[in-house]
Amino acid sequence: MADAPQRVLLPGGSGGIGAALARALLDAYPEARIEATHHRSEPPFADDRLQWRRLDLRDEDAIADWAGETDRVDWIVNCAGFLHGDGAGPEKNVRMLKPEFLLHCIRVNALPTLLLAKHFDAALKLSPAPLLAAISARVGSIDDNRLGGWYSYRISKAALNMALKTLSIEWKHSHPRGRVAALHPGTNDTALSQPFQRNVAPEQLFDPNYTAEAFVTLLAGLEAADSGRFWAWDGSELPW
Ligand SMILES: NC(=O)c1ccc[n+]([C@@H]2O[C@H](COP(=O)([O-])OP(=O)(O)OC[C@H]3O[C@@H](n4cnc5c(N)ncnc54)[C@H](OP(=O)(O)O)[C@@H]3O)[C@@H](O)[C@H]2O)c1
Repeated sequence: MADAPQRVLLPGGSGGIGAALARALLDAYPEARIEATHHRSEPPFADDRLQWRRLDLRDEDAIADWAGETDRVDWIVNCAGFLHGDGAGPEKNVRMLKPEFLLHCIRVNALPTLLLAKHFDAALKLSPAPLLAAISARVGSIDDNRLGGWYSYRISKAALNMALKTLSIEWKHSHPRGRVAALHPGTNDTALSQPFQRNVAPEQLFDPNYTAEAFVTLLAGLEAADSGRFWAWDGSELPW
């Protein structure tokens, strides 16, 4: 079991899973201080140990400014993501592909985690056991792709997975006690999955609080030797 985190960053903390994870981390680690971000929505709750920051994760300068105000960071868990919005959503077939939608998915789902790794590199190095995780999705697994469709979201999550795997290799030298993880939350009852819940069996549609508690258990148990893997909420490993 690695050291308890004292400083945690939660980009996307205003989302359904992000807010649940913020609560679960505050419960699990009474000494921890958390900085979470929101973007279009307002902070979902307040706590003395939780600070909110409005941030567009597509904005590298804003991420660099945040890092410039931060010394040590123990954990970063990126909970931000995009599947549908402003009248656009996942493609059923290749004829529906729109380059701008694909690029938007990459800008929100893949690039921010790399920018966070870049700008918080020094702050993470000050931690005795740094961790960088991002919520990916099973549909980003190339091996596991049986249904097709959803080009832009799948491509952006596959890109995120490659970014995390590549970072884990760099960290073996640069952050030897570090852990990098891609996370799959299952299907959670949040705004992101809302339009696609019709065919999900009730027992397969998770309360984000359940997933968040499972993620805390999973992340707390990761050792440096586990770095560079793709985990489902229940601790099972997924193929890249
Ligand atoms: N829900 C599921 O069933 C499911 C399944 C598989 C994977 N996931 C993944 O899990 C993660 C969390 O999803 P969720 O269900 O909690 O979704 P959600 O409730 O829609 O939350 C999305 C979060 O991303 C933030 N965000 C979006 N664009 C942003 C930007 N440009 N800059 C900064 N923040 C931005 C949102 O901020 P604001 O709301 O403040 O704008 C919000 O905090 C995502 O990566 C998603 O792909 C979810």
